[in-house]
Amino acid sequence: MMEKVELYFDSRRKCSEQIETVNNEPEMSEFESAFLAGLLYKFKPKKIVEVGIAAGGTTAIILQTLEDIKSLDSSYDYLLFSVDLSESYYRDQSRVSGFLGDQMASIIGTNNYKKMTGKVLPERIEEIGGEIDFVILDTVHALPGEVLDFLAIFPFLSSNAIICLHDLTYHYNSLMTENRCSNSVLFNAIVGNRIIDMEQKQSIDEVEYPNIGAVQITEDTGKYIDGIFCSLTLNWSYVPEQKQLEIYQEHYQRYYPSYMTKIFQNAIKMASRNAIFKSNQVKLNEQMINAVIEKNNDIVFWGAGNVCKSTLLNEKIFPSSIVDSCDTKIGTTIFGWTIYKASAEFLRNKFIIITCKESESIISQLKEWDIYEENYITIWDLCEDKSN
Ligand SMILES: C[S@@+](CC[C@H](N)C(=O)[O-])C[C@H]1O[C@@H](n2cnc3c(N)ncnc32)[C@H](O)[C@@H]1O
Repeated sequence: MMEKVELYFDSRRKCSEQIETVNNEPEMSEFESAFLAGLLYKFKPKKIVEVGIAAGGTTAIILQTLEDIKSLDSSYDYLLFSVDLSESYYRDQSRVSGFLGDQMASIIGTNNYKKMTGKVLPERIEEIGGEIDFVILDTVHALPGEVLDFLAIFPFLSSNAIICLHDLTYHYNSLMTENRCSNSVLFNAIVGNRIIDMEQKQSIDEVEYPNIGAVQITEDTGKYIDGIFCSLTLNWSYVPEQKQLEIYQEHYQRYYPSYMTKIFQNAIKMASRNAIFKSNQVKLNEQMINAVIEKNNDIVFWGAGNVCKSTLLNEKIFPSSIVDSCDTKIGTTIFGWTIYKASAEFLRNKFIIITCKESESIISQLKEWDIYEENYITIWDLCEDKSN
């Protein structure tokens, strides 16, 4: 069954009038915040857990909404727990995770909000306790990511709890994010009532499938929970640290039948083996790049967006003689016009290192591309998006 909720835009507007303005915050669009607030109005949850806080822009909106519900219904009260693995805000390490939520909590003067940072969800969940009736998962977006946390929190949910999932279409944002599908996997795999607003056009290019949705669990969710364990056998984008995996494993052993933990263990084995193949491939690429650098003086570094630049600088792969396409004013990464403006003249006799998938498909449309075909390599597997 697909349900809809009424959208509430007011909470976000009220928040923005009260708390600090921070770039990229909240990390949801106006529609997505309104959908989340609409869910809260509709279901009036008493115990809410948010996993993945960033600066806390969304936490502030949740708090505002819960306070608004409270002001309409004096018998209503709530407890909000916000959990993040990182103690500091991932876009600005000088600030703590969730500082905007803290600002809002102190403005409204509530004691019903608890922020928990520095540990993964299974290390917090006993303290949070059972009867959770609303969860927002918004962390890594890549497998195993949110799937691990859904399984961690599931035994603590009330019988008709709501699981709100952000970034359902992140894997279509760009080719760099095409593996960001963990919340989409959950949205598709959890047995329950799906809630999504199919009429809402997204602002960017009118894609009609929304980037946020929710599932209300039912008595069948637990019956088919092994399907969620099975979804962990899809290709993992990263392998969490051994210690973290052990924490999740112990937790699953405590709350699920042993065959489900076995599926998890096998998924870890397959993902770890794959990670070794990938890291060998990266080493090979580094050797290839170093060989190219030794032979060529004039290299165009094509597609050097911020993520790629910081990755390469961190890895100290490139010497300073590299020409970066941003610095030479021929454009940055993926927009067709920059390729056409960047004259063939500029590229003549240069060696091109292409750092993102989109760039290759666009650059190869260049009229004289056949001249360069021998003169480029692609390295996007070294430059994967590590933005969150
Ligand atoms: C996309 S941001 C969250 C955005 C936030 N929900 C909002 O709407 O503004 C992702 C956050 O997840 C956190 N994170 C990453 N892995 C995590 C994990 N395993 N458990 C908890 N938090 C995690 C990051 O530190 C980061 O703060």
